[in-house]
Amino acid sequence: MGSLNVISHPLIEAKLTRMRDKNTSSQDFRLLLKEISILMGYEITRNFETVDAEVETPICVSKFPVLKESFFTIVPILRAGLGMVDGLLELMPFAHVGHIGLVRDEETHVPTEYYYKMPEGFEKSEVIVVDPMLATGGSAVDAISSLKKRGCTNIRLVNLVAVPEGIAAVQKAHPDVDIYVAAVDDGLNEDAYIVPGLGDAGDRIFGTK
Ligand code: URA
Repeated sequence: MGSLNVISHPLIEAKLTRMRDKNTSSQDFRLLLKEISILMGYEITRNFETVDAEVETPICVSKFPVLKESFFTIVPILRAGLGMVDGLLELMPFAHVGHIGLVRDEETHVPTEYYYKMPEGFEKSEVIVVDPMLATGGSAVDAISSLKKRGCTNIRLVNLVAVPEGIAAVQKAHPDVDIYVAAVDDGLNEDAYIVPGLGDAGDRIFGTK
């Protein structure tokens, strides 16, 4: 089973509290999401491998760790996932970015990809799927399935706020995927919004409501 990592840190908690406040502006909401993504990125990248490289300090030549050359792809699930990309790119400027947009037929529940664009060879990369809200888990499960269909084997999922049912759905469908979240909320209301949550993350990021 993939691990569930709840990244708790006072800075993340305080910033998330501000994001939850309905009076926080879109501008502040975007900035806070970016800042939290950077802070979460610190933990998400904790197991990145290093190799020793020779460096000449002003005093002598010695060996020090540098990041092992690896291929990372950050994949935001459109559209709210876009809000987490800039923060992670600040930490990992060498990462590539792929995009995936899915809609589910309301009757058949069959997902259709309305947008899909990945960097060449991404299936061999370490893939970091990002979406601020893990609610029913439907989009995350479908996005990960779609990436696996293309040959991806190394996928982790990063969410800001999750609920137990969304976590369970991902763990059931994709037991190999590690999940990183900043908070686990109580559950979903009848409209599938996270409670207490922060509302519609996409609307709040892009000021569409
Ligand atoms: N997506 C959101 O943006 N918010 C929720 O509460 C649930 C899903």
